[in-house]
Amino acid sequence: MTVDPLYLATAVEAALAAGRIQKQYFRQPLEIGKKGPIDLVTAADLEVERMFRALVAERFPSHVVIGEEGTSSVPPGPARYRWIIDPVDGTTNFAHGLALFSVSIALEIDGRLEVGVIYDPMADELFTAERGGGARLNGRPIRVSSNSAIIDALLCTGFPYSVHQERQQHVDVFAEFLRQAQAVRRLGSAALDLAYVAAGRFDGFWEERLHPWDIAAGVVIVAEAGGRTTGIDGNEIDVFGGHVIATNGRLHEAVLSVVQRVRGMRPGELHG
Ligand code: IPD
Ligand code: CA
Ligand code: CA
Repeated sequence: MTVDPLYLATAVEAALAAGRIQKQYFRQPLEIGKKGPIDLVTAADLEVERMFRALVAERFPSHVVIGEEGTSSVPPGPARYRWIIDPVDGTTNFAHGLALFSVSIALEIDGRLEVGVIYDPMADELFTAERGGGARLNGRPIRVSSNSAIIDALLCTGFPYSVHQERQQHVDVFAEFLRQAQAVRRLGSAALDLAYVAAGRFDGFWEERLHPWDIAAGVVIVAEAGGRTTGIDGNEIDVFGGHVIATNGRLHEAVLSVVQRVRGMRPGELHG
């Protein structure tokens, strides 16, 4: 069953509007708030989310919105229609004037992710996908890479805002991939990391302690580009579960087994 094309059109419209707001604030004098010692929020984060909530309320009044800057706790249980937005993914980069950030918008219907849109306004790259309809970059179909060996792989990861408290577990996995992969990157926008896996730029990505808004859109886009996403436990991806491994598919078991071995996990088991 295909979903109403108005949903993808709305996500694209909102992402482009978000990009315009981000560009207005980017590299301007900014008041930067702190949600934690290293977790920042700017006027751009707040304005994009406000714009999006207003758009959904006007166009689809019965739909729920889960957003980083407006959801203190995730509403329990699935709503019929649930939009998931990260108004600025890469806020640390944004606040430092580093042009690597995005907006990420997904729509879940009856508990299933149907639409994903990620927009990087600085590169003017719009990644879109609808379940069953393929993934696109600025309208052109994209596909994951075909690498099947870690030694040939360009991998990517990220670190959570709790990294000061749990540095070792993240560093150990990072160090092991440094030993095994061609190279490892840390861009600072999980949504772009996933979009780049979908576009075949990265062969794989892993990260823990993520939020649904970091990955919901990317999960749809990677799947539609022929890639695979799971949790680090190897189970089916749960965007509310907080951890993800996304690869071109061919590398999935190899990446998963490195993460699990270094983390001392047995398959299907998840350590804190
Ligand atoms: C962060 C970015 C970063 C990732 C962090 C996220 P934010 O999101 O996606 O790449 O490593 O885990 O929290 O705070 O910039 O929206
Ligand atoms: Ca984020
Ligand atoms: Ca954010």
